[in-house]
Amino acid sequence: MAKVYVFDHPLIQHKLTYIRDKHTGTKEFRELVDEVATLMAFEITRDMPLEETNIETPVCPAKSKILSGKKIGLVPILRAGIGMVDGILKLIPAAKVGHIGLYRDPETLKPVEYYVKLPSDVEERDFIVVDPMLATGGSAVEAIHGLKKRGAKNIKFMCLIAAPEGVEALKEAHPDVDIYIAALDEKLNDHGYIVPGLGDAGDRLFGTK
Ligand code: URA
Repeated sequence: MAKVYVFDHPLIQHKLTYIRDKHTGTKEFRELVDEVATLMAFEITRDMPLEETNIETPVCPAKSKILSGKKIGLVPILRAGIGMVDGILKLIPAAKVGHIGLYRDPETLKPVEYYVKLPSDVEERDFIVVDPMLATGGSAVEAIHGLKKRGAKNIKFMCLIAAPEGVEALKEAHPDVDIYIAALDEKLNDHGYIVPGLGDAGDRLFGTK
């Protein structure tokens, strides 16, 4: 069963408060999302495998640990997911970045893929799918489905704010995908916005309305 991790680190919670605040402008919003993504990347990489290597310190030969070269693929869901990419790459600079774009079919209201570009070695990578908001879960479920269809086996999902409805939908559709959240909010409103949330993450990141 999927595990759900809520990162309640004080720095993350502090920055999230300013991200939520409607008086926070685009520049600061973008910077804060970037910073929180970095902090979350620190937590999400906690289980990365290490291996021992031999080095020489100025004092003596020593055995020490390095990352064992696990290949990571980072996949933002367009467009708001892009706002989290640079922050994560600060800690995992060798990650390759794929993109998945989805639109909502006006009749079925279901998300439909319109763009997918992934690293060529999908099967060898561990993936982190990112989107700031996990609302109904429709986009995350479909994006992860698209990744699996193309051979991805090991996938984590990371967002800033989730609604309980989205978490349940994602857990049910992809029980093998662990979910990493900075805050689990109350609910969705009738317009599909997370309450209290932060509004439209894409609009706030890119300064659109
Ligand atoms: N997408 C957003 O950007 N905000 C929400 O509250 C829900 C979905």
